[in-house]
Amino acid sequence: MSSSSKPSYLGTLNAIVNGERKAFEFLDAWAMKTTNPDLSAMLKTVALREAEHAASFEKRMCELGYEFQEKKDPTFKKTMEIVLSNSDDAEKFEKLDIGLGGLDGEDRLLQLLADKNIDPHTGALLGRFIAEERDSDRLLQKAYQRTKGVGPAPEESVTLSDLQKQLARLTKIVSGLQDKPPKKKPKRRAVK
Ligand SMILES: [Fe+2]
Repeated sequence: MSSSSKPSYLGTLNAIVNGERKAFEFLDAWAMKTTNPDLSAMLKTVALREAEHAASFEKRMCELGYEFQEKKDPTFKKTMEIVLSNSDDAEKFEKLDIGLGGLDGEDRLLQLLADKNIDPHTGALLGRFIAEERDSDRLLQKAYQRTKGVGPAPEESVTLSDLQKQLARLTKIVSGLQDKPPKKKPKRRAVK
C-alpha cells in the first residue's frame, strides 16, 4: 500500500496491540500469583479480554494491509516485578496504579474515537473495546476496594442445600397451583 493511503489511525491500532499484549501478560501472571481465588478469577477474565483485544486489533491491521510492530516498553520489567513480588494484592493495585479510579484512562479512551477518518469496521471494534475497557476498570476498582476491606463483601456462594430448599418451596407452590380447580367461567345471563 502506498504511504498516501496509509490510515491515520494505524499508530493508534499498533499502540493498542502493544498495550493489550502487555496487559494480558501481567494480569495473567498476577492471576496465577495471588492466593485470593475471587481476585484470581477476575484478573483472569480481564487478562483474557486484553488478549482478545490485542488479537482483534492485530487482525484489523492485517486486514488493512499492515504488519504489527512490537515496541519495547522500558517500564514493563518493573510491572512484572511488582506483580510477581510478595507484596499484598492491595499494594500491587497501588504500585501499578490500576483500579484506583483515576480519570486519565477515560480521557485516553475518548481520544481514540476523535479521529474522524476511522472506517466503520475499525470504529465498531474501537467502540466495543472502549466499553469493555470501562467495564474491566469497574471490575478492577471493585476488586481493589475488596482487597482494602472496603465496599460490599463478595456475595456468599449458594450452597447445594440452599438450592434444595428453594426447589422444595417452588415444588410446593407449583403443586398447590395444580391442585386448584380451574376457575369456572361466569355464567352469562341469557339475553332475550
Ligand atoms: Fe486494556
